[in-house]
Amino acid sequence: MSKKFYITTAIDYANGSPHLGHAYEKVLTDIVARFRRMMGEEVKFLTGLDEHGQKVQMSAQKLGVSPLEVCDRLASEFQGLCRALRISNDDYIRTTEERHKAVVQDILQKLYDKGEIYKADYNGYYSVRQEQFVTEKEKVDGTWPEIFGEVTEVTESNYFFKLARYQDWLIDTIRANDQMIYPRFRSADVLQFLKEPLNDLCISRPKERLEWGIELPFDPDFVTYVWFDALTNYITAAGYGTDAFEQHWPADYHVIGKDILVPPHAVYWPIMLKALELPLPKHFLVHGWWLSSGSKMSKSSGEVINPLDLIDQFGADAFRYFVTREMNVGQDSEFSLDLFMSRYNSDLANDLGNLVSRLLNMGGRYTEGRVPPAEIEEAPEKQLKELWLKTSAELVPLFEDFQFHKALDRIFTFVSGINRYAETRAPWKLAKSETPADQAALRTSLATMAEALRLAVALLTPVMPEISDKIRGLVGAENFELIEGQLEWGNRLEGKALGEKTILFPRPERKVL
Ligand code: ME8
Ligand code: MG
Repeated sequence: MSKKFYITTAIDYANGSPHLGHAYEKVLTDIVARFRRMMGEEVKFLTGLDEHGQKVQMSAQKLGVSPLEVCDRLASEFQGLCRALRISNDDYIRTTEERHKAVVQDILQKLYDKGEIYKADYNGYYSVRQEQFVTEKEKVDGTWPEIFGEVTEVTESNYFFKLARYQDWLIDTIRANDQMIYPRFRSADVLQFLKEPLNDLCISRPKERLEWGIELPFDPDFVTYVWFDALTNYITAAGYGTDAFEQHWPADYHVIGKDILVPPHAVYWPIMLKALELPLPKHFLVHGWWLSSGSKMSKSSGEVINPLDLIDQFGADAFRYFVTREMNVGQDSEFSLDLFMSRYNSDLANDLGNLVSRLLNMGGRYTEGRVPPAEIEEAPEKQLKELWLKTSAELVPLFEDFQFHKALDRIFTFVSGINRYAETRAPWKLAKSETPADQAALRTSLATMAEALRLAVALLTPVMPEISDKIRGLVGAENFELIEGQLEWGNRLEGKALGEKTILFPRPERKVL
């Protein structure tokens, strides 16, 4: 069995409805997954829901329902979002599933048996909102910062995982492996964090305080800490303990937001794996935040764009295009509806949509609805082909390097090039002339536009899968394999049927949102 390309998103907290940040992370991961499949790799793409912990227990209490009911509702919301966004995940994990509980308990027992977990008394300050102990050091001007919510002093017996003994190993590992974290500058955040001595990690919660979690196999009075539980999802879904595991693990990419790199993904997770003698994930792809008026869009800030509203009105592909075009992966980006509308109207409806309908319209009128032969090659054709050569040489490397915003910029520059070509050739004028030269130029211009469109959408496919398929269908290119070799100009569509004229990106009928 050969190793698959294994890519994961973070698993979303079951404490609120999906928002733009969740939708973005799924789209980003989906683009990588689709691109890899296109390049001929076998892919396993995992996403899911993080269902345990205090916040879920509390919101269930507030609603007067069981925690599982809360999770069931949210699971169907998040899965609905995945469908609406055309996310091509192969698996969806919920941390309340039996397969997951079994793995979490298995590794807890293993670590306990190996002496990596011990019991100790602990007296400290506990933040409910962050579900973690906090220290005096974290006070600002003598008070707990807002992000901790209510902080109370508690004394408890708990189980601790020996993080501290792995600190030097982790520092060396991260230093030696500068490809592990993308973008690379985030490695510095991790190393900065590791300058301070690590404390062992409290990985239990007494049931009297928190029942909604996975029970410790060696002490039924406790459940495990939600992050310990959540991180383990990546190996559960990889088939830990079964033959399938080798085929998936190590993960090629964990895609996560910058807020959960340090400490959970870059500190706890590598150390958990090391202690279990498992290989580390190859890479973390760390994206930035969607901001709204400068602050993070999140459940607690109330500044939430419901991605489903946008998808409903404009379609999944328009949404996927916008978030990919506007986000430089790794940086933050400001969401604005005006910007969304301007991208929709100018890039999608005008540049791409009108180009397609122009071609179909002329094909219907002048060439009996078929792609005519390309008979001549003069300056306008040469120019367009040169633009494509330049564009196509850049695209694959940009995709490999997660520079999707630039890749889209290049593709749409090419689309503008096709429009310019059409203006130059003006087939609608050529159609009025009977001379053989003009007739040849007319046929050539439609053939050239069709071939150029086929090429333009080849690498648009991972970002806009539906529209790309549709356009391929409309220009008679539906049977083209989407592998690298097909990025070459070939004029292979001669004689293929062109579709009926259609509007790919309709103007919004009602007021936006
Ligand atoms: O952190 N912009 O869940 P979560 C971009 N359950 N990304 C954002 C965002 C924003 N405004 N807000 C959140 C959790 N995200 C844990 C993960 S993984 C083993 C457990 C991203 O629902 C965030 O960075 O709070 C994270 O990667 C993902 O959405 C889920 O966030
Ligand atoms: Mg969060």
